Amino acid sequence: MKILLTGASGLVGHAFAQSAQRRGHHVIGLVNTHTADLTGLASKRTADLTDEHALTALVLDTFPDAIVNCAAVAEPAQCDADPARAQALNVALPAHLARLAHHVSARLVHLSSEQVFDGTATHAYSVKSPVKPLNLYARQKVESERLVHTTAPDFAITLRAPLLSGNSLTGKRSLHERLFADWSAGKTPKVYTDEIRQPCTAANLAELMVELLERNDVRGIVHWAGADALSRHELAVRIRTHFKLSEQSAPLEAITREANPREASKRPARLALDLKPLAGVVKTPIESFAAQLDQFIIPPAYRAWYFSA
Ligand SMILES: NC(=O)c1ccc[n+]([C@@H]2O[C@H](COP(=O)([O-])OP(=O)(O)OC[C@H]3O[C@@H](n4cnc5c(N)ncnc54)[C@H](OP(=O)(O)O)[C@@H]3O)[C@@H](O)[C@H]2O)c1
Repeated sequence: MKILLTGASGLVGHAFAQSAQRRGHHVIGLVNTHTADLTGLASKRTADLTDEHALTALVLDTFPDAIVNCAAVAEPAQCDADPARAQALNVALPAHLARLAHHVSARLVHLSSEQVFDGTATHAYSVKSPVKPLNLYARQKVESERLVHTTAPDFAITLRAPLLSGNSLTGKRSLHERLFADWSAGKTPKVYTDEIRQPCTAANLAELMVELLERNDVRGIVHWAGADALSRHELAVRIRTHFKLSEQSAPLEAITREANPREASKRPARLALDLKPLAGVVKTPIESFAAQLDQFIIPPAYRAWYFSA
């Protein structure tokens, strides 16, 4: 399959390219600021995807069988810092990709987030649960879902993803990499004891995305996550233990939502996802957090600190 991949240098995009290449697909990867070579791609192109004309030309030139959208402003804080850029990448881009996918009859895989929910439910959120975004990033994801599925209902899958773990290209994007960044800089990360997340690795999510493209019988909004819903504090402690780091060299400050009401008002408390209808139907395994830990590598940028810690 010829796949046009946006965000090929990002956490998910890079993992997707590896996975798709392993399965024999031809991936044309789009990057923006990333300059180094990338594995997993048949070819790499540089483009600013806020430029709709450039994007249209790229799609018409490559005429892909599938488009996979991993470009985004993927951090709530970055969306708040530059709402216009975030709107262009998180809303206008997927909407335009949906129009193009419809035009060239290409499948479209778009990524949304568990953060479309407000996190007040005690049960796992199903694909039918009402969305209630608490921050700008989440509102943009909700808007993108609506636009993608009204524009290209016969071609699009939107995958709501959880907090992502694993190994990124930069070594600075994922769950354990961010902890390493803080610890190596002498900082004490603050981690909520009452904020629950159900992470999966970017590689596992990528495997699922390839599987969904290959089986070609799924449309609409679907959920994916790992097997374990744990507090951010538990996740961090398990990462520290896995890497055999001491409490002195890798400190954590346990915090609660009650003690940080302003920040907490923009952060969903408990995000667990019901993985129906994909669970039990797809071949991609739902990974336990223990299985995820086994895949984490020491990020190269923090190796010197790690071996001296
Ligand atoms: N990370 C998570 O924990 C998480 C959780 C749930 C859902 N998601 C969703 O999954 C998707 C992928 O997230 P991610 O974490 O992989 O993102 P990421 O690592 O931050 O990567 C973002 C990508 O977007 C590209 N990009 C940014 N501005 C661009 C522009 N103007 N033109 C073209 N490309 C541009 C970047 O390219 P350059 O590097 O070349 O500039 C990079 O490849 C997003 O939709 C995100 O919302 C992520």
